[in-house]
Amino acid sequence: MSEALCRLADVPPDGTALAGGLFAVRAGDAVAVYVNACPHLGVALDGPPGRFLSADGRIVCALHGAEFRRADGVCLRGPCRGERLTAVAFSVRDGLVIKQQKQGRLF
Ligand code: FES
Repeated sequence: MSEALCRLADVPPDGTALAGGLFAVRAGDAVAVYVNACPHLGVALDGPPGRFLSADGRIVCALHGAEFRRADGVCLRGPCRGERLTAVAFSVRDGLVIKQQKQGRLF
């Protein structure tokens, strides 16, 4: 079973789209989808809802300022340096970003 998270067009070139407890972010020509939870304490990353990016374009945690690379969610700076955001498997179909559900051991 799969679930549409947002329209691909809703993810701006240098921005994000909030979809429930997940968010989609552009990383160059690609898109990544992550769980909206900081690996440091598990809180939501965004302060104002839907605001995830620092001025230099990294994903930033509003609580303690950890910074994450968009393409792979690795923390580059902050208290959880070296950890990473939880990536969500997805596909893009008919202009929709669609979350893939786990089935058994396969996505
Ligand atoms: S809760 Fe995100 S850096 Fe501490």
